[in-house]
Amino acid sequence: MPLLSGLTREALLRMDPETAHAATINALRLGLAPEAEHPDPPELRTTLCGLELRNPVGMAAGFDKNAEVPAALARMGFGMVEIGTVTPRPQPGNARPRLFRLPAAEGVINRLGFNNDGHDAVFARLRDARVGAILGVNIGANRDSEDFVADYVKGVARFAAVADYLAVNISSPNTPGLRNLQSEEALKRLLGEVLAARARASVRVPVLLKLAPDLNEAQMDGIAAAIARTDLDGLIVSNTTVSRDAVAGLPGAEEEGGLSGRPLFNLATRRLAQMRQRVGTLPIVGVGGIYSPESAVAKFEAGADAIQLYSALVFGGLDLLEHIKRGLVARVRAAGGTSVADLTGRTTAAWAAGTASL
Ligand code: FNR
Repeated sequence: MPLLSGLTREALLRMDPETAHAATINALRLGLAPEAEHPDPPELRTTLCGLELRNPVGMAAGFDKNAEVPAALARMGFGMVEIGTVTPRPQPGNARPRLFRLPAAEGVINRLGFNNDGHDAVFARLRDARVGAILGVNIGANRDSEDFVADYVKGVARFAAVADYLAVNISSPNTPGLRNLQSEEALKRLLGEVLAARARASVRVPVLLKLAPDLNEAQMDGIAAAIARTDLDGLIVSNTTVSRDAVAGLPGAEEEGGLSGRPLFNLATRRLAQMRQRVGTLPIVGVGGIYSPESAVAKFEAGADAIQLYSALVFGGLDLLEHIKRGLVARVRAAGGTSVADLTGRTTAAWAAGTASL
């Protein structure tokens, strides 16, 4: 039995969550992860911001914060791997415990607080890396920074030449003040400086903006206004939520931090559809709560051009990736299409209105 599936997953679920995560990263570093058995079928090939993906399923940010195992994740079958969040200086993050499972809901709450090795160490790992999938570098700001915007500009300058795309993460709930960058005025300044830094870099790297699901209609209008007439390449919707509506009363729900996994699915998918209605054909990566082939299909139908997941792998194991890819291919074929891109946006209106749910 391959490591990280079956009984081994049961063992991981009995460990403290952060210990289990470190053990998983170690196993991947040692080459003990299962490798994808089949090449991806042509239906899974697609493009995102001009990047060619061999399949549209990515590992979301936060799993490999320090770029220790991007090539192993690619060998496992992810079409895209987003490392980070990386901040200019290394920082320890919040006090432990800071990562919690909600098994009854298949949810996770984290308040890690951007624990990471910092730009220099991560850049050194990526400089000569051969990843084998599209590599995203997710950039952020140090908690004690005097100028958050300057930290993102440093991230662009540092990683533009080694990343296939950059993700500007202004949506973590665990760095006080960070999410204020989503307000229209702050976002205009941030994007102005970030996109100017990108224009100064030696290569034109696509820049995507990662949003929170905790936004109302007016805030989403403000974001759409701020990105209009910029050359931003795309959005990632969404990060974790501070809402506990979907897990009210469950053990662990009272922990502070961002909730992810299955209880995030409906909220994140609705916000994805609502942003899709506001940005036309701008590429959007759909993330938040994907836990099954059906939920992966629904993410595309709500308006995603590619998807990412993290939390469900904790409960479903790494086999879930293969199941999701097979489910996507079956749905494309059943609909008489040739590519996952054919699924995008079929039910955006229903998701945006809140009449669709899983
Ligand atoms: C995250 N996520 C995250 N996102 C990000 O942009 N930077 C980060 O450093 C992290 N860190 C992180 C740690 C842990 C433990 C989790 C569970 C999540 C958020 C992640 O990328 C994703 O947006 C959400 O988790 C929603 O997707 P899933 O997990 O429901 O599939």
